[in-house]
Amino acid sequence: MRILFLGDLVGRSGREAAIAALPALRRTLALDLVLVNAENASHGFGLAPDMAAALFAAGADVLTLGNHSWDRKEIIPYIAQTPRLIRPLNYPPGTPGAGVAEVTLADGRRAVVMNLMGRLFMELLDCPFRAAAEALGRQALGAGAQAIVIDFHAEATSEKMAFAHSFDGKVSLVVGTHTHCPTADAQILPGGTGYQSDLGMCGDYDSVIGMKKEAAVARFWRKVPGEKLQPAEGEATLCGLFVETDDKTGLTRKIAPFRQGGRLQPVMPEG
Ligand SMILES: [Fe+2]
Ligand SMILES: [Fe+2]
Repeated sequence: MRILFLGDLVGRSGREAAIAALPALRRTLALDLVLVNAENASHGFGLAPDMAAALFAAGADVLTLGNHSWDRKEIIPYIAQTPRLIRPLNYPPGTPGAGVAEVTLADGRRAVVMNLMGRLFMELLDCPFRAAAEALGRQALGAGAQAIVIDFHAEATSEKMAFAHSFDGKVSLVVGTHTHCPTADAQILPGGTGYQSDLGMCGDYDSVIGMKKEAAVARFWRKVPGEKLQPAEGEATLCGLFVETDDKTGLTRKIAPFRQGGRLQPVMPEG
């Protein structure tokens, strides 16, 4: 299965670049499954239902969220009726929406996508390790599901690596999101699971993690409340990861970073 996962879309710059690029990327990379972290799509904070609909229309199969899941309150009724928009699975029981999405491709192959959130320097949710282990107990990689992909939304690289090693060989791919900066460690772990600590954001990199740099810099120099943070509006670099998985085993056999547009050095996986 050929999969592209785009990191956190930040504001209009990231959102519109992704919507514009996805139809052509689906064709040129012959993608079977497109996944997007959309927690910052709405002006840097949250996701509005019309934006989710535009991303689905452009070719996203599943949208994931994170600590900004609920910043736009309109998403609460929308997520309840949109199974392909998921939020971290380890929110407390009773939280709206689901943390797992199941996608059946046109040719019958089945993919499972999960979203979990780390706990180091983040809100204290339920244990993501135990939540993932429990949810994976209901899935059989290679037999019931040709691919299982996890978006582990977390701050600390140590927690992300520990999480990925915990499920090496049991899932196709673990990607980190949330730090808005791509890491150079894309690899296939010894058990066959693809992994990258952070996909990086889809947004303007002349910024502080996607926010206009002046106000964001001032926060570090002066410890008084300042200007509100606003998303930077320059051209976005789309950042993500391409993988090809083996349908029989569900494991990753090819992995390559993807970067396009804006300020970062472009990287295009071979078609
Ligand atoms: Fe984010
Ligand atoms: Fe986040």
